Amino acid sequence: MNVAIVGASGAVGQEFLRLLEERNFPLTSLALFGSKRSAGTTCPFKGKNLLIKELQHNDDFKGIDIALASAGGGISKEFAETITQHGAVMIDNSSAFRMDADVPLVVPEVNPDDCRQRPRNIIANPNCTTILMVVVLKAIEQLSHITRVQVASYQSASGAGAAAMAELQTQLQQVLAGDSVAIEKFKYQLAFNLIPQIDVFADHDYTKEELKMYNETRKIMHSNIEVSATCVRVPVMRAHSEAVWLETEQPLTPEQVRKALQTAAGVTVVDNPAQGEYPMPLFAADKDNVFVGRIRKDLSRPNGITLWLSGDQIRKGAALNAIQIAEYMIDHKLLPSQ
Ligand SMILES: NC(=O)c1ccc[n+]([C@@H]2O[C@H](COP(=O)([O-])OP(=O)(O)OC[C@H]3O[C@@H](n4cnc5c(N)ncnc54)[C@H](OP(=O)(O)O)[C@@H]3O)[C@@H](O)[C@H]2O)c1
Repeated sequence: MNVAIVGASGAVGQEFLRLLEERNFPLTSLALFGSKRSAGTTCPFKGKNLLIKELQHNDDFKGIDIALASAGGGISKEFAETITQHGAVMIDNSSAFRMDADVPLVVPEVNPDDCRQRPRNIIANPNCTTILMVVVLKAIEQLSHITRVQVASYQSASGAGAAAMAELQTQLQQVLAGDSVAIEKFKYQLAFNLIPQIDVFADHDYTKEELKMYNETRKIMHSNIEVSATCVRVPVMRAHSEAVWLETEQPLTPEQVRKALQTAAGVTVVDNPAQGEYPMPLFAADKDNVFVGRIRKDLSRPNGITLWLSGDQIRKGAALNAIQIAEYMIDHKLLPSQ
């Protein structure tokens, strides 16, 4: 496969490089693109240094089979035609096309076949917090239809990109040194704080991030599920967590749910309250699976189950999910070049 990464220098772009190497992805060539800022610099890959080229409106995508895009929604919109015009399939990590009817929104553990219908040759990678949740919901949905979910997220600094991770690190040092704190990427100081706002406020005083969880969960799961989310930025460097309260049509026991999750693709159950064992972001970082635990009956609702999950949102919430989509298409010979 001839592959391109758009946004190679970013948090997600760097993870693409690590995963393509780690998973021994079938590569013929790998082209890297960025803005003027990183163009001309190199990234190490399989013992070589690959040059980042400036993304421009030209024929650089001729011959590319798969373009992994992670340079933000504005760039994805502006360059979608340039990227796909010669037949490349664009797997896009931004929110630019996710809710477009002619763009599939895919999580391979949940709705892999949706990537067969892609009239614009674009496949959207869902919102990171939503991906982690639907991987877990899918296994429970197979036991009984999930009618409703309430979720509170605990989202790490890296969800806002490489510069945001650096900002949290700097802020922690500034606070501990008693210096004044520099605030740029986040709205408030994140070090030693929580910020209950991710993205801008939209309808009904939910944030856009919270509405993404509502709309994208329904699209990925082909479901009428109702979702109410509160998304919170926390001073964790990497990996998001979520407290989830869900309701099913038929009552389920925690044992049934635990058993279904133990055999679910992409999930690891860590649920041993007696030994104080449950998922935590520190241990989910750099791992592929979504970790789930604290599975119990919701005492406030007859058909309610409550659980807790942690997952690396740069991996499964972004780069890994996109690469799994690519691998699925290769395995099922779904690419125009196959
Ligand atoms: N971080 C996450 O956990 C996560 C999860 C899911 C989805 N996403 C989405 O993935 C995308 C990237 O996120 P990120 O966290 O990797 O951000 P990031 O660390 O800030 O990286 C942004 C990347 O975009 C590139 N870029 C910016 N302007 C460009 C231009 N004009 N032409 C070409 N490249 C340009 C940057 O290249 P230069 O360095 O050359 O400027 C950089 O490589 C966003 O849409 C984000 O919403 C992120």
